[in-house]
Amino acid sequence: MVFDQNTLLYGGLSFVAATAVLFYSVLLIWSPPPIPERESEKKYRSKSSPSKPVPLPSIRDAASVDLTVVIPAFNETSRMPSMLESTINHLSQPHIKKSRKYEILIVDDGSSDGTSELALKLAVTKYGESDIRVVKLEKNLGKGGAVRHGMMHGRGKRLLMVDADGASRFEDLESLWKSMDTLSPDDTKPAITIGSRAHLVKTEAVVKRSLLRNILMYGLHTVLRVVGVGHIRDTQCGFKLFNRPAAVRLFPAQHLTTWIFDVELLLLAKQMGIPVAEVPIEWHEVPGSKLNVMLDSLQMLRDLLIMRGNQMLGRWKPTAWRT
Ligand SMILES: *[C@@H]1O[C@H](CO)[C@@H](O)[C@H](O)[C@H]1NC(C)=O
Repeated sequence: MVFDQNTLLYGGLSFVAATAVLFYSVLLIWSPPPIPERESEKKYRSKSSPSKPVPLPSIRDAASVDLTVVIPAFNETSRMPSMLESTINHLSQPHIKKSRKYEILIVDDGSSDGTSELALKLAVTKYGESDIRVVKLEKNLGKGGAVRHGMMHGRGKRLLMVDADGASRFEDLESLWKSMDTLSPDDTKPAITIGSRAHLVKTEAVVKRSLLRNILMYGLHTVLRVVGVGHIRDTQCGFKLFNRPAAVRLFPAQHLTTWIFDVELLLLAKQMGIPVAEVPIEWHEVPGSKLNVMLDSLQMLRDLLIMRGNQMLGRWKPTAWRT
């Protein structure tokens, strides 16, 4: 059989078109739906109103405290209490308390082990002096969704996200704080300071990781370079401080609710021209991680591709910020 030029040309074009349609369909199918916010999730409970939920403020309102600590918590009844204790111990030291009014916003990410009930109980009894608010998401969104929810409803001039497992040392907030003072002294310009564990590489903490984990980490770093956040040495650290002008621009534009949401935030920051400083912090692995290394790595890869694809096609825009 002989192919003439026209047959080849049309064949080639159809192939390209079919591939484009296929990629586009996969992108549409895999793209996460807009992040939902249900009526009950726009309200919080606290010591002053433990049984009747009260409406939450918005990140677009003016700040009314100095610091919001956002703690995403999914089935964290066993790890959260000690983490909460070190958080409050640090923040209630007289010299810190004097100059920094804080709130703690615990976002229960649809737990079924009584996380929000325990958080509320601690807020009412043991930590009655502290300003703790508890929000419960009706369905599990993923860590990125829980952090975003807290950030969208925080009152702080500065907002910290911190993992409920206590893997970071809360005192290291002071390093992030100082770095923020340098980047944006009066918090009028958007800025972000993030904890980094890059200096711990090659120390015992990392060597003790399994070979598989190290290979996957290496793969992730390569992918991150391709995606455009290769300038950040540790994108995944769960200890990040945003000032309010940064938070109000970033979080409304966030689409990913899964583990890799940090990368989306850092990429958005780069696209919006928001400076990011990396600050070395202490870290220790806490048992009970809900990360399934193999499965979650594949999901991360998929989400990164979706994010990039949507951005390139203009479906997700870094300027999605509305007043
Ligand atoms: C959360 O905790 C509940 C109660 O202990 C358990 O039934 C459920 O399987 C847990 N979910 C996950 C994803 O760990």
